[in-house]
Amino acid sequence: MGEIQRISGPLIQGEGMKGSQINELVKVGDAELLGEIISLKYDRASIQVYEDTSGLRPGEPVAGTGMPLSVELGPGLLSSVFDGIQRPLEIIRDKAGDFIARGVSAPALDRKKKWEFVAKMKKGMDAAQGDVIGEVREYSVIHKIMVPKGVRGKITELLEGNFSVDEPVCQINGIPVLMAQKWPVRVPREYSQKLPYEMPLITGKRICDLMFPIAKGGTAAIPGGFGTGKTVTQTDLAKYSDADVIVYVGCGERGNEMTEVLTEFPKLVDPRNKKPLMQRTVLIANTSNMPVAAREASIYTGITIAEYYRDMGYEVALMADSTSRWAEAMREISGRMEEMPGEEGYPAYLGKRLAEFYERSGRVDCMGTPKRVGSVSVVGAVSPPGGDVSEPVSQATLRVTKVFWALDTSLARRRHYPAINWLKSYSLYLGELREWFAKNVAEDFIDVRQRAMGLLQKEAELQAIVQLIGPDALPDKERLVLEATKMIREDFLQQNSFDEIDVYSTMKKQYLMLKTILHFYDKAEAALALETPLSRILDAEERGEIAKLKRVPEEQVEARVKEINKSIDKSFA
Ligand SMILES: Nc1ncnc2c1ncn2[C@@H]1O[C@H](COP(=O)(O)OP(=O)(O)OP(=O)(O)O)[C@@H](O)[C@H]1O
Ligand SMILES: [Mg+2]
Repeated sequence: MGEIQRISGPLIQGEGMKGSQINELVKVGDAELLGEIISLKYDRASIQVYEDTSGLRPGEPVAGTGMPLSVELGPGLLSSVFDGIQRPLEIIRDKAGDFIARGVSAPALDRKKKWEFVAKMKKGMDAAQGDVIGEVREYSVIHKIMVPKGVRGKITELLEGNFSVDEPVCQINGIPVLMAQKWPVRVPREYSQKLPYEMPLITGKRICDLMFPIAKGGTAAIPGGFGTGKTVTQTDLAKYSDADVIVYVGCGERGNEMTEVLTEFPKLVDPRNKKPLMQRTVLIANTSNMPVAAREASIYTGITIAEYYRDMGYEVALMADSTSRWAEAMREISGRMEEMPGEEGYPAYLGKRLAEFYERSGRVDCMGTPKRVGSVSVVGAVSPPGGDVSEPVSQATLRVTKVFWALDTSLARRRHYPAINWLKSYSLYLGELREWFAKNVAEDFIDVRQRAMGLLQKEAELQAIVQLIGPDALPDKERLVLEATKMIREDFLQQNSFDEIDVYSTMKKQYLMLKTILHFYDKAEAALALETPLSRILDAEERGEIAKLKRVPEEQVEARVKEINKSIDKSFA
């Protein structure tokens, strides 16, 4: 037990803190505000406080808890909305009103709710960390109850029936095992081994899936200036990507943006099983008006929950909007600790923290039996001031993420959505995913993608010339390239998030759409070689039909594409 010596915003200096540990959770002041020790020198501790510190006074007590900042993991996480330190926001609101009062606490998981526990092992068997002792049905997800770290030995008792998360369901070596376990957020959860990437995380966004795919277990960054579509892209990924579990961390964004997410999500339906989407989602909300230290913690809370579902053998996707606000929280705390500032005032360890966060992604062999493979994919939004990605947070992120979906202010201004710039974006997973695409979508998938990319690059070169000498000076062959890339841009890359059908394209539809555009281009090029006038080629009515493909429902696409191709062949013949 120590006492407050100095207060500086969210940072407290405590004295008389002998026996404390780094990263220990403490209760600060008479109000028992939650805080975490982030540096220790002799008996002096720097403590970041997760709640508003106004009104605290020097001399008030600081009490250690002997525990690191941890999250509670167990049935009931799905469909919850937590703050940065895993307090359930709805319950806190019921207790304390619309504005979170200080010192209010509530367990993360509901203690009253009973879950039906079905045993999967037997009395007398040996059990160790990660072994699945039983299952609980958590909406449509089968929640595996796993042996926690540090427990191993013979199962001396294994119950079945309805239990709450804090009731023991099993005894291993005399130690009671509950359905909920705790895990320190700053420590990555353990796994047997990392596995290579094998399949894409399918998002339904054509520019993401076909042009710059992210692997399941991979990492992606979405940098973009103010209003370029970071939040729309992230929420679309949360809604439509083919992950089993979604963790969405709203980190330091404006309250009204988070409100939109919070009001919209509960109404959404999972396109895969027609159940409410919230039932596979965990939301973590820490808006710009909430304490800055809790924002720093929210990213860790989110990734730990994501790892926990990975350990059950699920494909998990985590969206963080925005990691720049997280970095700003680090900067504020670091500044108050009077640490030596690095570039633009960010702490010198900014790059290391970002790398450690993205490192927690991956596809893994999980610990324990039965054998399970799970993944965590991480997609982080970055909000560089002025959209200029040469700033430290973007640069540090670029170094560790393998997909870069570069949002572009000028595309957004032209209302080309998603405003992802195809010349600046990249994916380093193409090689690893090539085989999957060939097997599951089409043999020539990557070739079609490369041809389209090649044309778009050619377009950029041609446009530089057009700016100098005007479009009329280009030979017809090159003007045809510009027409083809216009089709790729407008009829393929542009995708309206507010159109019920267009918002999501299956891989197959994406491939067929692009392939049809290229088919038209090939035929047109051949016709041009036979001296058909370009104007006649461009009048072909099939172009209009191709443009309408976006809005053709999935089940009709194949037939429609066949008709169009037939018609193209006939016209050009
Ligand atoms: N894919 C899309 N389809 C249609 N409209 C879009 C799309 N993406 C973005 N928009 C439009 O752009 C607006 C701003 O997008 P969004 O809020 O996602 O930007 P942001 O990058 O998160 O901005 P901020 O920097 O303010 O957080 C949206 O309200 C929407 O009108
Ligand atoms: Mg936003």
